[in-house]
Amino acid sequence: MKLKKSPFEQLSDYSREVATWNTISNLLEWDQEVYMPTEAIEFRSAQNSLVTSHTHKLKTGSKFAKLLSALINIESGEILDPSLSPAQKSALKVWRKDYLKSVKLPNSFIKNLVTTTTKACSAWALARKESNFKKFAPHLEKIVKLNQKKAAYLGYEASPYDALLDLYEPDSTIAKLTPLFDSLKVGLKELLHKITARPQVNNRFLHQEFEAGAQLEFSKTLLHAMGFRPETSRLDLSSHPFCTPMHPTDIRMTTRIHLDDVMSNLFSALHEGGHGLYGQNLPVEFFGTPLGEQVSLGIDESQSRFWETRIGKTRPFWERFLPDLQTAFPQFKGVTLDEFYAAINTVTPSFIRVEADEVTYTLHVILRFEIEKELIEGTIKVKDVPSVWNKKMDELLGITPPKDALGCLQDIHWSLGSMGYFPTYALGNLYAAQFFEKFSSDHPDWEQKIAQGNLTFIRDWLKTHIHQWGRQYSPHELVEKITGKPLSEKPYLNYLTKKYQRIYGL
Ligand code: CO
Repeated sequence: MKLKKSPFEQLSDYSREVATWNTISNLLEWDQEVYMPTEAIEFRSAQNSLVTSHTHKLKTGSKFAKLLSALINIESGEILDPSLSPAQKSALKVWRKDYLKSVKLPNSFIKNLVTTTTKACSAWALARKESNFKKFAPHLEKIVKLNQKKAAYLGYEASPYDALLDLYEPDSTIAKLTPLFDSLKVGLKELLHKITARPQVNNRFLHQEFEAGAQLEFSKTLLHAMGFRPETSRLDLSSHPFCTPMHPTDIRMTTRIHLDDVMSNLFSALHEGGHGLYGQNLPVEFFGTPLGEQVSLGIDESQSRFWETRIGKTRPFWERFLPDLQTAFPQFKGVTLDEFYAAINTVTPSFIRVEADEVTYTLHVILRFEIEKELIEGTIKVKDVPSVWNKKMDELLGITPPKDALGCLQDIHWSLGSMGYFPTYALGNLYAAQFFEKFSSDHPDWEQKIAQGNLTFIRDWLKTHIHQWGRQYSPHELVEKITGKPLSEKPYLNYLTKKYQRIYGL
């Protein structure tokens, strides 16, 4: 006799089907960045929009609503079956929240957004190439208006920007972020001031010529040490590094090779590896349900920053891997561990966010947050973005971009229609720092272990404390659960201050 599945299992099955369709989109996008011949782009867009609109229909359709409303009152959020486990109850809340968000945005709005951003992306690429903001401005105006509209559809209390933030980082509002970011600005600027007053460390030996094949091999060595196997993951090349964790058995990562900078590739690999491990360690039995998904973009970014900076930019990590690096790249022969460690941690104000060091990176992000917020609230105009940007660069980093290509035209996010996304980059650093305090108190011998080449205990700690829960806890609940304290900027500031005091002899 076949037992009838429980309503929760039926909902999970349906949700898994939606998620599987979603991963087909992911695969098309991955292929587009990695292998697709360029002239296939129009056909690819047709393939992708077919799959995307089908997925959207499944997500917002009546079948899903029916399955969901058997377990939770969609209007009030009341759970209708008290016998469900706490994990199942929290999954229902997430399903309901996601569902309400997707049905609030009318199909016509989504279509309009897609058409606008497709045009905006090519306009942005051209504007950046020519460093001509005026060519991008009319598109940005449309995108700001569409985002204001989106916020109105979604609803908000204090600021329309809060509605956009909530799409990427639940728990985050302007009211919560502003004090954190204001305090970061003060602390980071002060630290940067002290560092720039000191003689710069020598990092010239990092810029020599490094053969591409050997570079790719070495990044694979590092991913292997982190715990990746070729049977369940891949590392390929793309123009911008990214990670698509499709399923715990299929993690796609990419890196980018600059012939004159092997470390850029290695840190990208560690970064994407951090995202990848999160995807790999999610409970496979809950794939496609909220219990098998990443908490938020910010928590996801905390995992990549954890591996890239808190492990990959430490002395013990290179105590283990520098000899191997010197074998693969004899260019590094004669470089001492101290010299190498100082060089990979050079701090210097620069124009481009993605190339920024640990101290200046978050300042780049705060700048974008402040501008986005004002654009959405309507307190600054699109035409003033370049001048506001340059003024803020001077205030925060003490430098002024000589052209907009090195300023407000550098990032793709706005042309993709994403506003409210940038803060997750800064939050990733804050979460990572707060998690690291607990990690290092649980493993007081972490430095010795890493120096001996043991990275397994790091992976296990992250799995136990973060990955295994899926979206059972919201970002701030997770931080409190792990560290016993609310999210704070202090662990991050303390870490940076201590680390760079030593390197720069402050
Ligand atoms: Co990332």
